[in-house]
Amino acid sequence: MTDPKANAAKAALEYVKDGMCIGLGSGSTAREFLKLLVQKVKDEKLNVCCVTTSLDTRMLAIENKLWVVEPDTISDIDLAVDGADTVTKDALLKGGGGALTREKIIDYDAKKFIVLVDEGKVRKRLEGNVALEVLPFAAPFVLRELKQYKPVIRIAQRKLGPVISDNGCYIVDMDMRVDDPKKTEAWLKSMPGIVENGIFTKFDKIIVGSETGSRIL
Ligand code: A5P
Repeated sequence: MTDPKANAAKAALEYVKDGMCIGLGSGSTAREFLKLLVQKVKDEKLNVCCVTTSLDTRMLAIENKLWVVEPDTISDIDLAVDGADTVTKDALLKGGGGALTREKIIDYDAKKFIVLVDEGKVRKRLEGNVALEVLPFAAPFVLRELKQYKPVIRIAQRKLGPVISDNGCYIVDMDMRVDDPKKTEAWLKSMPGIVENGIFTKFDKIIVGSETGSRIL
């Protein structure tokens, strides 16, 4: 028996090629991929650079001596590998770690975006926590506009007050059943003051890890 997250990450490793620029996702599953990537780069003496989707991932990548570059120094992202909170065949919910905006920027830009999850995150219907990144000034307006979904500002665990994202914004969480992911993603995106939402509808592959291996969804 092995760790499902590590098994999914292992399967994604085969898409890494020498010379690539890789978008590193955020969260515990993306961390598994990062650890394996560090080993592969060492073992195969690969020349790969990385852009990161959060300050958390950036710190971990630098600590592990990966070559981290800023987005304005590259022309393409060849591959992005990231986790998700909930997946169906057509869409993902992300943002459990509050990194959804940088994740969407990097994941959507990549030539190939691979999603890593374990079996417990696979659903037939997209429903659950939809995270929003919101400008603090706009928060009262957004909360009022979306009140039927019981939105709440995410509160920090080891700091008083709200979580402040890597971009200086609030994270708002709300419970939703998402029947039309593309339409809902665009609708939330169109609301003034919402910087980004955690509904992702553009990706290439979902790898589902289990205790015995992995499969493509
Ligand atoms: C970060 O904001 C999230 O989108 C993560 O990618 C997502 O929450 C998955 O995290 P875990 O791999 O830790 O479950």
